[in-house]
Amino acid sequence: MKGKISIAIDGPAGAGKSTIAKLLARRLGIVYIDTGAMYRAAALEAIRRGIDTTDAERVARMIEEVDISIKLDRNEQAVQLGGENVEHLIRTPEVSIGSSNVAVVPNVRKKMVQLQKEMAESQSVVMDGRDIGTRVLPEAELKIFLTASVEERARRRYGQLSEAERADISLSEVERDIKYRDFNDANRECDPLRVAEGAIFIDTTGKSIEEVVDNILDHAEEVLGQKLK
Ligand code: CDP
Repeated sequence: MKGKISIAIDGPAGAGKSTIAKLLARRLGIVYIDTGAMYRAAALEAIRRGIDTTDAERVARMIEEVDISIKLDRNEQAVQLGGENVEHLIRTPEVSIGSSNVAVVPNVRKKMVQLQKEMAESQSVVMDGRDIGTRVLPEAELKIFLTASVEERARRRYGQLSEAERADISLSEVERDIKYRDFNDANRECDPLRVAEGAIFIDTTGKSIEEVVDNILDHAEEVLGQKLK
């Protein structure tokens, strides 16, 4: 692929963002950045410190002291919390809910957005999250909004859990957690989840991953004026 490009992918939990963004980045030979991992790392730190993730004041103070960054290794990312790779600790239901809670705090968002903008300055990226097309990369060459029915999103998330994890949580609890995050993410004051201006809206309900990636590549070919497939 010629030139520098930014691709923004937003949407609610379980819409297929990370799987699709990863495949897309691989096809284009560019970096994939999962911004949700940074909010998850912030939530993990709050939980470790015994801070209630809904306590906005304490979370705002905590974020001033923590060092969250993304390390890239052969285009694969690993989120770092004070230099510790916490990628394998941040996908639990407790951290998922916590990440949505800390993500309403303006100071948290300010810090994360700044870091994310810096990462996209020097290289081509596919970045996924909730506010990428609206706040982090409003000038992105390609903006995608992915969604799917809440039932399908819950089924997908449940399917990604290990057997041990499934012993602890039911499908209906996963759906309840997703609805909680959907509400939080769409209704917070600071940079809520919205379809960005100029974004291509794709409902992935009943669609295969390949179908969606193919569709996005068609759009990418159009905006870049290059053959990618
Ligand atoms: O992968 P999934 O869609 O379940 O969530 P995620 O992308 O890992 O994000 C976890 C949480 O972080 C979301 O529920 C949002 O509350 C928050 N988030 C955000 O506010 N802004 C972003 N750019 C990315 C995530």
